Amino acid sequence: MKISVCGKGGSGKSTIVTLLANEARIRGYRILVVDSDESNSGLFRMLGFDQPPVPLMELVGGKRKVQRSLRDGFSSGDSGEGIRVMRQDSIKVDDIPAKHIMTKDKLQLVCVGKILQSLEGCACPMGVLSREFLKKLSLEKNEIVVVDMEAGVEHFGRGVETSIDSVLIVVEPSFESLQLAERIHSLSAGIGIKNIRAILNKVPSDEIASKLESELVKRGIDTIGCIHHDTEIFHSCLEGLSLTNGSAGEEIRDVFDSLISSNTLGYYSND
Ligand SMILES: Nc1ncnc2c1ncn2[C@@H]1O[C@H](COP(=O)(O)OP(=O)(O)O)[C@@H](O)[C@H]1O
Ligand SMILES: [Mg+2]
Repeated sequence: MKISVCGKGGSGKSTIVTLLANEARIRGYRILVVDSDESNSGLFRMLGFDQPPVPLMELVGGKRKVQRSLRDGFSSGDSGEGIRVMRQDSIKVDDIPAKHIMTKDKLQLVCVGKILQSLEGCACPMGVLSREFLKKLSLEKNEIVVVDMEAGVEHFGRGVETSIDSVLIVVEPSFESLQLAERIHSLSAGIGIKNIRAILNKVPSDEIASKLESELVKRGIDTIGCIHHDTEIFHSCLEGLSLTNGSAGEEIRDVFDSLISSNTLGYYSND
């Protein structure tokens, strides 16, 4: 199962990814987190790693090479290790070279690439690399991939979601977040994804949760669950520590159950 977590910047995508990853690990799944947000770099800390993995972009020789290889289908006579990996029709988690994947028992992290300097050029090659990597990534039954997407909707334009089974749209209590959810929903549906649901985050009260849910219903979007504002999450983020949670830990359990059961019921279109 490949799950993409999307939404507005700051809505809590990385937080939701981390909560889901921790829950999946507790349940005995092998979980691979794919950091596909080229602008923010703190996900590794939230997940409890001391350093990020070397980006996949470096594995394949940098942005220019990716653009060239993509044009030629990763088969342009280049014999670099990364290109060899990407040239395979399917990539297993164990094929990823060790320095490009961080591992803590059943929790693993890869990172597509980061924009570290100004004038570094556009992020298109990163989007394309994410798309190709996710498409080729082949999973065993007990493996789950959760993708931490960049904010906004540009990744849809780059086709990153083409091999995704389930889209989770993080919605915080703001009009902008609701509007963006509507766009994400229509773009996801447009590429044939059937399992698209909103997850409410940073919700201050049940009253606000109901209001958000009914606003989403008006926009044709189902809600999978609600994570209330959680002071422990707020503090661990403020201090750059691995994510600890209070009430959110229980709330994510129901969300996870719902994700798994819709998968077991064969809800997914891309299997
Ligand atoms: N459930 C929550 N309760 C309290 N604060 C939260 C919660 N989720 C996110 N936050 C706060 O919002 C900030 C942004 O969250 P983050 O997951 O980094 O967003 P994104 O990845 O969408 O940019 C965090 O630094 C944290 O302070
Ligand atoms: Mg983030």
